[in-house]
Amino acid sequence: MIFDRVKPLDAILAVAEKKSLKRTLGPIQLMLFGIGCIIGTGIFVLTSVGAQKAGPGLMLAFAIAGAVCIVAALCYAEIAAMIPVAGSAYTYSYATVGEFLAWTVGWALIMEYAIAAAAVSVGWSGYFAGTILNEFLGVHLPQALAHGPLILGGEEGGVINLPAALIALLVTGLLILGTSESAKVNAVLVAIKVTALTAFIALTLTSPEFSADRFNPFLPAGLFGVWGTGTGAVGAAATMFFAYVGFDAVSTAAEETKDPQRNVPIGLIGSLLFCTVFYILVAAGAIGTIGGQPIMSGGLPVEAGSVELARQCALPQYSQALVCSDEALAHVLREIGFSGVGNMLGVAAFLALPSVILVLLFGQTRIFFVMSRDGLLPPLLSRVHPRFKTPHVVTAITGSLVAIGAAFFPVGQLADISNAGTLYAFLMVAVAVMMLRRTDPARKRSFRVPALWLIGPLTIAGCIFLFVNLPTNAMLFLPIWGVLGLFVYFLYSRRNSLLGRGIVEVHEDDYADLEPPIPGTHDA
Ligand code: ALA
Repeated sequence: MIFDRVKPLDAILAVAEKKSLKRTLGPIQLMLFGIGCIIGTGIFVLTSVGAQKAGPGLMLAFAIAGAVCIVAALCYAEIAAMIPVAGSAYTYSYATVGEFLAWTVGWALIMEYAIAAAAVSVGWSGYFAGTILNEFLGVHLPQALAHGPLILGGEEGGVINLPAALIALLVTGLLILGTSESAKVNAVLVAIKVTALTAFIALTLTSPEFSADRFNPFLPAGLFGVWGTGTGAVGAAATMFFAYVGFDAVSTAAEETKDPQRNVPIGLIGSLLFCTVFYILVAAGAIGTIGGQPIMSGGLPVEAGSVELARQCALPQYSQALVCSDEALAHVLREIGFSGVGNMLGVAAFLALPSVILVLLFGQTRIFFVMSRDGLLPPLLSRVHPRFKTPHVVTAITGSLVAIGAAFFPVGQLADISNAGTLYAFLMVAVAVMMLRRTDPARKRSFRVPALWLIGPLTIAGCIFLFVNLPTNAMLFLPIWGVLGLFVYFLYSRRNSLLGRGIVEVHEDDYADLEPPIPGTHDA
């Protein structure tokens, strides 16, 4: 039977008990860690993509995506506090719905983290080229080197997004060397990001340019848009969901959290609520000051990231439009007379986004690592470098693929594809929580999702709802990636699975030896 391999929860928990990782993280550190992973390209860059899809309805899009994430976070919180071990949704699924579905979750998480890392690299590249090179150094990077070929800018076509590929490779190199980010560095970066966004909100909402008229029409592309195009407020919500991705990383720190039963839920939900409020205010400030109406053609918003949009954006009447900017928030501030602050915000994004790439790539390599350790992927992938103590092989492979993605694809498309994988993983987490309540009702749960039989199905419905509102190509990517995964599973993993071969213990020693610890959680 295909669904018969379920990892015994007791074996997983016994490993967690034996582990020597110190429990040092409290609720505030967890929230800082969460916010450090969450705030990134989504708000700093995709704001313009979201506006192109929904106009002022972008604010509603943030609220919808935030609501789905909060119910999903409640489910994550119950299971992360109950099974506080590495591997996130993959491990939870292994203990509940079994190896096969866990494999599909792990496979989807690979898609989530790697493609998200590529998206954030592209987002960083916009600020690097716009603020650092152009504003500060007066160097204009040719379009051919600043955008991938799937987006054309101005009269010259994009060929390769060189800065995006280089930052992805640089972060990969740092991870191989075992460079981590200390909790202090993370706290500083969070402070920089939050200060930049707070300044943005304060300056835009009080600006004389701010006008309620700019919110009219509120839904120029409708609430639902045209199915398959990813437009309308709901289509934008499916894209802006990306801005919240990363909160699941908090669950990966559960093993190192003091009183995880109490602190993991606080960390997850606290960081999400904080970001939701901030995002809605940022969207209001951006649209209220310079407007955020989409560029339309034939009654529909022109596709974000398309050649046609780049062509329209090159026209003089759109040169200042929010929807055309690669560095949305800095652009807004420059437009309303705060060039200096806009440039500072650009520097904040330039400094802080690499740490988001680091956490995403880190999460990716650890999922690969855990899957390889379970025998589902070749042992080569869990090889640890003798000196650096890092999983160097898997990090190098992942980093190279991420760099290729970042070099050739536009940010919006990467975010949508990453979201498809994430939504699947979140859905499975909700399924796992509900199943565990049925199959293992007596086990201690210090955090219980309130009204689980409402919240669980709502999470599943919310994930499906956002998924079906992604653009068609992003939706299709998941089954295509899934079929590829099935080949790997049936040709390799099923035969080599340790559990399938009757070995249930987990190699905690290799894992405990790994360096670096989760970025942003430890003091140097
Ligand atoms: N939420 C993260 C970002 O927006 C992935 O960059």
